[in-house]
Amino acid sequence: MQATSLGDGAELRPLEPRHAQELLSHMDRGRDFIGRYVALPDAVTDLTSARAFLQRYETKAAADGGRLFGIWADGTLVGGVLFPTMNVEQGTAEAGCWLEPSAVGRGLVTRAVRLIIEWAVEERGVHRVEWRVSPANEPSIAVARRLGMTKDGVLRESYLHRGVRHDTEVWSVLAPEWRASTGAGAQGGDPGLGGAGGTLSRKGAPHIDRVVPDLSVSDLAAAVRQHTAALGMDVLMDHGWIVTLGDGTGHQLSLMTTDATATVNPQASVFVDDVHAAYRAALEANAEIVHPLTEEPWGVTRFFYRDSSGSVINVGSHR
Ligand SMILES: CC(C)(COP(=O)(O)OP(=O)(O)OC[C@H]1O[C@@H](n2cnc3c(N)ncnc32)[C@H](O)[C@@H]1OP(=O)(O)O)[C@@H](O)C(=O)NCCC(=O)NCCS
Repeated sequence: MQATSLGDGAELRPLEPRHAQELLSHMDRGRDFIGRYVALPDAVTDLTSARAFLQRYETKAAADGGRLFGIWADGTLVGGVLFPTMNVEQGTAEAGCWLEPSAVGRGLVTRAVRLIIEWAVEERGVHRVEWRVSPANEPSIAVARRLGMTKDGVLRESYLHRGVRHDTEVWSVLAPEWRASTGAGAQGGDPGLGGAGGTLSRKGAPHIDRVVPDLSVSDLAAAVRQHTAALGMDVLMDHGWIVTLGDGTGHQLSLMTTDATATVNPQASVFVDDVHAAYRAALEANAEIVHPLTEEPWGVTRFFYRDSSGSVINVGSHR
């Protein structure tokens, strides 16, 4: 896997045994904070245990039973996201995360988990991604909510941590729900976990998750029939006025009659991690704003700009 930009000077990369010293130093900076609800700091206490932990994940990854990725901010390892378990045959995976205190409050984990869920769902055919969390761990529950997960229930006193039994809330998102939430607006993102998608964005510029062509059509049903047949794509999302097609590997095409709230149809949609930064950048570039920055009812914040040749670009982020 290539390094994948998380924007804001941060990137996501596999965390491997060669990072043992970095992991230990990072854990020493965040041990108390991270260890309140998760056992990771107790498993990584010195160089030997750090290496053993990373080797366990290397073995899991080789058997396709889990994955571990580090989050580096300006070159320093500040956190990670992982699938502690993954069963491709069953189509299930559990996701998790942590950050050291200096890295919280920037959306890094939400963006990183989005990338690995997108990869699991679209590239590995995972149907259900789970999130297990202590009911007291509000920041982690907020991440689950931001990811569009639903609370399945509570496993009472199921988790023994530092001698105390904790309840575990189980949250999850299913593949169709994930696609629906990423399809309409932000349209998810080619996670770039498998190859060239993982390029670094310009420092300070919003990170682009995905670019989708938008074709204006007069007969939506006919256009859907024709393009699904011609390109072998499936319908990922259908809002009545817009249908997004995808091929299961992150390639998408949107077909629309008349935009639901804007007065013009865009020719392309660009989905970014920070639409407010993108809006500022568009204003600085003297782009003509033809649909103001708007929180749309379907969960996307977006604006349209028109370029000097008249093409209209929709720029959006999921809320
Ligand atoms: C769980 C944990 C990773 C959450 O960290 P976090 O920084 O709140 O999560 P994110 O990186 O997704 O950032 C979200 C925060 O950044 C803000 N943010 C800023 N820019 C953002 C963006 N572009 N996108 C999303 N959020 C953004 C959000 O508003 C939110 O802040 P708020 O809670 O004050 O509203 C962290 O608390 C942690 O490491 N805890 C210890 C380990 C742990 O418990 N792990 C989870 C086990 S289940």
